[in-house]
Amino acid sequence: MSATYHILTQKDLHPAGQQEHDFSTDVLIGLSQMPKQLSSKYFYDERGSQLFQEIMELPEYYLTSCEFEIISEQKEKISQDMAGEPFNLIEFGTGDGRKTKILLKNFLKKGFEFYYIPIDISEAAMKTLIKSMNKEFPELKTEGIVAEYFNGLKWLKNTAFRKNLVLFLGSNLGNFDKAHSRAFLHNLWNILNNGDSVVIGFDLKKDIDLMLKAYNDSQGVTAEFNLNLLRRINRELGGNFDLEKFRFYAGYDVFTGAIESYLVSLEQQEVFIEKIGQSFVFNSWEPIHTEYSYKYLESDIEELAGRTGFFIKKQLYDSKSYFVDSVWIVNKQDRHV
Ligand SMILES: C[S@@+](CC[C@H](N)C(=O)[O-])C[C@H]1O[C@@H](n2cnc3c(N)ncnc32)[C@H](O)[C@@H]1O
Repeated sequence: MSATYHILTQKDLHPAGQQEHDFSTDVLIGLSQMPKQLSSKYFYDERGSQLFQEIMELPEYYLTSCEFEIISEQKEKISQDMAGEPFNLIEFGTGDGRKTKILLKNFLKKGFEFYYIPIDISEAAMKTLIKSMNKEFPELKTEGIVAEYFNGLKWLKNTAFRKNLVLFLGSNLGNFDKAHSRAFLHNLWNILNNGDSVVIGFDLKKDIDLMLKAYNDSQGVTAEFNLNLLRRINRELGGNFDLEKFRFYAGYDVFTGAIESYLVSLEQQEVFIEKIGQSFVFNSWEPIHTEYSYKYLESDIEELAGRTGFFIKKQLYDSKSYFVDSVWIVNKQDRHV
């Protein structure tokens, strides 16, 4: 059986979900706001997905190596709960799946009967993932879904009948602000069945310079990753952003516990976007907010699980305790949220 994917459309959602904003509407809304903002979910065109793969190789970007170590060395702690029954392995924001492949290999070795459902907004990333799944795991039953996380949740409502194991790795959840992470997790809890498990990667609060270096990397790959969003607007929406006139900046907000990423306009300028049919004025040093990367304390994780209806079953740390893969269980008998 070969791996395939499909792009989720409104027709796949029952009942049909609210019409989603498209890229141009989100750019119009984001650049009309004060402060201006563009969503990090639009980073991942083909070039953006490649750049993120480069970020994962950077020595400063400890998140990937820490989570890789956790999954490599503690995969049995995740696998041991999955024996017996057939299940769905659902993954949000898979990217190139390099860490997931360790689990997939282990599950296949154990003869588990499961269906792998990666969900990712980026068709480019999904195409590459499906190709590599067919090559590396030809026996794996895989159906990829190209969708935004919340649409993926709506689709899962009609799919999640079997036992489910949900992966949300790479501290992807950290890109949501607090309200969105609660909404996402609570929604997920509602869809899942009693006894289902969720594995969420959290980047832990630590030395501020260390966290900052992961984003302000010496090779400037993260800067290029952010600037590529302007290039995407130019290509897909007919924008005339001059990338030389913006710089990347990432800082840590000690109050919210988030690394916040920005593109800062280096001069007063006007940018026209053809598909929107409008110009946008930027003042000198005016920022566009591009990404949140929230960092957590153990107590933040406990609060989040408690508020959204999950029980924490295991905390899997790397050897430096920089990162944790938190294994949560759905227990609907004792909890009504
Ligand atoms: C930071 S990468 C992490 C990839 C992988 N989980 C890992 O740990 O290596 C985020 C991935 O999530 C996807 N993504 C980002 N925002 C998304 C959204 N709102 N809905 C669905 N996928 C999203 C991106 O396309 C990208 O592949």
